[in-house]
Amino acid sequence: MAKRLALIYDRIRWEEKVLVKEAKAKGFSVNSIDAKNMLIDIFKDRIKAAYGEIVLQRCISYYRGLHATAYLESKGLKVVNSLHVSTVCGNKFLTSLALQQAGIPTPKTFLAFTPDAAMQVLQELKYPAVLKPVTGSWGRSVAPLKDPETARAILEIKEDTPGALNQIYYIQEMVKRPPRDIRTIVIGDELITAVYRHAPPDDWRTNVALGGKTTLCPVTNELEDVMLKAARAVGGGVLGVDAMESPNGVVVHEVNNTVEFKGAAVVSEANIPRAIVKYLVELVKR
Ligand SMILES: Nc1ncnc2c1ncn2[C@@H]1O[C@H](COP(=O)(O)OP(=O)(O)O)[C@@H](O)[C@H]1O
Ligand SMILES: [Mg+2]
Repeated sequence: MAKRLALIYDRIRWEEKVLVKEAKAKGFSVNSIDAKNMLIDIFKDRIKAAYGEIVLQRCISYYRGLHATAYLESKGLKVVNSLHVSTVCGNKFLTSLALQQAGIPTPKTFLAFTPDAAMQVLQELKYPAVLKPVTGSWGRSVAPLKDPETARAILEIKEDTPGALNQIYYIQEMVKRPPRDIRTIVIGDELITAVYRHAPPDDWRTNVALGGKTTLCPVTNELEDVMLKAARAVGGGVLGVDAMESPNGVVVHEVNNTVEFKGAAVVSEANIPRAIVKYLVELVKR
């Protein structure tokens, strides 16, 4: 009988379409479930019949995906990525801690709980620095802080913005990198592909969502080693591990949990969705 895969989504992107196609080609019967329609009853125990042997969690909303994963895992389903991995990767501070603890090169990173404390951090770190929301993606609100006056104003605006996470100030050294960074797709213990993401002419950030363009990046032993270790440090799974080329070698700045790979797929010879499905097949067998 065909193995059943549940794909949890909140918006079908190109990635979800190709994943469903590959999963069907590999013999899965695919149950695509819009998380917005999920009715979660914590007292209902036998939910495997409704979901299947394995779940691929692909929500864009971090908190939605996280809660759905917690529920499904608690009922004994295998979810990719796991609750632990989703928790760590969805929060840049938890990711930084995991990377640092595992001895992976990562940018100098600080956390502060008030604008005053953040200003003290910046005085030591020097300008320019980078301020980021601890949760978020697509480069949104990732801000270069170029001088104390602007920094103070941005920190004050953040302080006055509703939402508990706005009172958490995640600050990083501005890495002296070329106008590009490196996105790798790591699945289990394998680096599937690496691409450069070049910043668009009108932005300093390299996110594909902001117009960043991808080209192939050669996979050196050093790069492979660091990226695989970074993936392991957050718990492993289907991951987008991102790094920057600093004057002292690559530094990993982020690990993405529900990775977008359209930009990488355009230039890579690797079949990324096929590799993801292969990983799911192996997990089901275990
Ligand atoms: N410390 C840094 N130094 C230089 N550039 C950075 C730094 N942090 C982030 N960037 C740039 O900003 C982009 C977005 O930051 P990132 O931490 O990846 O957040 P997001 O989750 O929104 O993608 C990165 O892809 C990179 O181009
Ligand atoms: Mg990023």
